[in-house]
Amino acid sequence: MLWAARGCFLLWLLPSILRARASPETRPSSPLCQQSPTKVSCKGVGLRKFPKELGQGIKYLELSNNFIQSLSGSNMPGFGHLEYLDVCFNQLEAISATTLAQLPRLRSLLLGSNHLDQNYLANGEAFHLLRNIEVLDLSVNNLESHMASWYISNLTSLRVLDLSGNTMTKLLAGTFRNSPRLRQLDLSNNYIMEIQEGAFEPLEELEVLNLALNSLHCVSGFSLLQLRVLNLSHNALELFSSEEGAEPYLLRVLDLSHNRLLSFPELPRAHDLTHLNLSNNLIASLLPGSPYPREFVLLYKEMQRFNRTVRPAAALTHMVDLDLSNNRLELFPFSFFHSLGSLHSLSLARNCLQDVARDSASNGTELSMRLLDLHSNALRVLPRWFFDSLPHLESIDLGSNSLQPCESQGSDQGKDLGGDPRTSAPGDTCTPLYNMPRLKHLSLSKNNISRLQPHAFNQTPLLSLDLSGNRDLSMSTGALGGLELSLQELSLKDNQMDEGQAALPCLGTLRVLDLSGNHLSLLPTGLSCSPLESLDIRNNNLQTLGTVRSWSHSLRAVSVAGNPWNCCSLGWLDTLRAAGVAVPDLHQSRCVFQEHGRNISARITGTPRWICPQPKGTASLALLMVLMGLSLLCAWAFCFLRKGRKATGCVGCRSN
Ligand SMILES: *[C@@H]1O[C@H](CO)[C@@H](O)[C@H](O)[C@H]1NC(C)=O
Ligand SMILES: *[C@@H]1O[C@H](CO)[C@@H](O)[C@H](O)[C@H]1NC(C)=O
Ligand SMILES: *[C@@H]1O[C@H](CO)[C@@H](O)[C@H](O)[C@H]1NC(C)=O
Ligand SMILES: *[C@@H]1O[C@H](CO)[C@@H](O)[C@H](O)[C@H]1NC(C)=O
Ligand SMILES: *[C@@H]1O[C@H](CO)[C@@H](O)[C@H](O)[C@H]1NC(C)=O
Ligand SMILES: *[C@@H]1O[C@H](CO)[C@@H](O)[C@H](O)[C@H]1NC(C)=O
Ligand SMILES: *[C@@H]1O[C@H](CO)[C@@H](O)[C@H](O)[C@H]1NC(C)=O
Repeated sequence: MLWAARGCFLLWLLPSILRARASPETRPSSPLCQQSPTKVSCKGVGLRKFPKELGQGIKYLELSNNFIQSLSGSNMPGFGHLEYLDVCFNQLEAISATTLAQLPRLRSLLLGSNHLDQNYLANGEAFHLLRNIEVLDLSVNNLESHMASWYISNLTSLRVLDLSGNTMTKLLAGTFRNSPRLRQLDLSNNYIMEIQEGAFEPLEELEVLNLALNSLHCVSGFSLLQLRVLNLSHNALELFSSEEGAEPYLLRVLDLSHNRLLSFPELPRAHDLTHLNLSNNLIASLLPGSPYPREFVLLYKEMQRFNRTVRPAAALTHMVDLDLSNNRLELFPFSFFHSLGSLHSLSLARNCLQDVARDSASNGTELSMRLLDLHSNALRVLPRWFFDSLPHLESIDLGSNSLQPCESQGSDQGKDLGGDPRTSAPGDTCTPLYNMPRLKHLSLSKNNISRLQPHAFNQTPLLSLDLSGNRDLSMSTGALGGLELSLQELSLKDNQMDEGQAALPCLGTLRVLDLSGNHLSLLPTGLSCSPLESLDIRNNNLQTLGTVRSWSHSLRAVSVAGNPWNCCSLGWLDTLRAAGVAVPDLHQSRCVFQEHGRNISARITGTPRWICPQPKGTASLALLMVLMGLSLLCAWAFCFLRKGRKATGCVGCRSN
């Protein structure tokens, strides 16, 4: 039936091509600027020159995505009020002083993605006339360090400057000498290896500095006290340390991800830091002590200052979000996080964690965390004290570890099963996940759990539970006992379970269930308890869905592909359609029927029902359904195609 679908594609394609050809708006030669009294947009209309006649009093002019090569009109009446000019994505090489002299009120000048490395001496001189410019975008212009310096050398009102995507290799000492009011500076995506001493010194009002995607190896004596956001991600930093002194930093967000840090950065005065991103570094330990100086690729004199007897995190009392994912930690050092009294979210995903530990001083203390990500580590067991110390925990990702949940007896016993108070005891083999009244979201995917013990989550009123990727998982009827009145989302995906291994209790609030990638030939009984809205049963062994009506009352969507459906008992499909349930992957689904003693596989959407022995009267209905499905598919294909050609295509399609 695919050829038929293509046929209707082609038939409808033709008129739309003809219409597109005939429409005059698409001709690039006649610029169609959108104009309101003070605002003009000529974005992407094929301009080669600065437009001349645009009326008086315009304040906002957008000329991006054209082919303009120079701004050098000598006579530009009517632009005296211009405050905002966007000429990004053109081919600008030349900007004349006479032009800029006629724009006395210009505040924002966006020139990103042009060729302003050409004629930079003359252009830069013209820029000296831009007395009032506050926002300047010079990104992606192939500018080297000295060119950028020259362009901004006399722009004393500058507040926002974008120099990203150029070819700067160093920051020269005098570059920002005349831009003391700069608040936001983007230097990302250059090749900066060196920041000359004092380069940032004049920038006393700088709040946001982006140095991501450069080649910096070392930042020490970082002195921008008033900075709020600093992005140093994707550099080659081995060392980051801030300056000693009495005044506190105002820094709130520090992104040091994708560097080569070997230890937690020293930030003794960054009391206001709320977000710290250290993901993708080489940090192997958070405990005070040596940072393994021999592992540094480069040696710095600053390393002598490195005396890690203080706890580097001691001052970080406002830290909300700490990302330490993709490092080399082997131990979850409980006491390290103890001083981070505001910590809300912590990721230690993709480390090499094998155990959790605390010292006797932190016995009985609690961490404030609500979200904890420990996925992709090597944890075999988490002791009871660990969870008792995280009383506010709402969501924990324990995926891709080797944890086995403990059994509980049902009622509220359990705390005494927890084991040793300091580390996990050698005898512990399972992780107690019951009795955690605040926990709402839990992932145990890919933990090689072979058997889920009864009442494993008793008194832990989870809303969502991910048990996917545990090959051959077997669940007794009571395994999810205790979740009957809370669980809303459950994934048992890719577990290769058969119906004997997947017994579900009566889950009275379950809305989303993923059973894909198993060996089920029957759905678990008890589904009729659940107000299911979304069900995924792809890639199982199902031949029919039997009494669909009993559990489909609230269903909105069901995915069914990858099952050996019986072509001759597809009554469930009619029931689902009659109930308005979407079957998004029906076009990929196949069914099997017998002909001359052989099993033949066919597309469900293309199989006429007369191949089956049918009770009289139903066959024509079924055929009608198939035809309706097909025409819907065609209509959809048509809309899709038109949408791709023209933004308003689908509206036209509907009105046809
Ligand atoms: C820089 O601006 C000042 C006035 O703000 C002006 O006197 C000086 O000539 C300008 N320098 C250059 C090189 O244009
Ligand atoms: C830092 O820059 C990188 C690269 O551009 C970006 O992906 C990241 O989101 C930025 N970080 C912050 C905190 O904005
Ligand atoms: C930290 O950076 C990584 C990589 O750039 C990013 O994926 C992650 O979302 C960031 N974490 C936070 C908490 O912003
Ligand atoms: C590091 O601190 C210890 C203890 O405070 C002190 O004995 C040692 O001299 C210090 N080392 C350096 C290099 O400052
Ligand atoms: C921790 O505290 C509990 C009581 O709160 C006590 O029974 C236990 O011995 C303590 N453990 C350590 C290692 O101090
Ligand atoms: C998974 O668990 C079984 C025992 O239940 C064990 O024999 C097997 O080695 C484990 N596989 C992995 C990859 O850890
Ligand atoms: C055809 O499929 C049915 C049901 O899956 C199976 O029992 C039977 O053995 C198959 N017959 C052949 C010839 O493969």
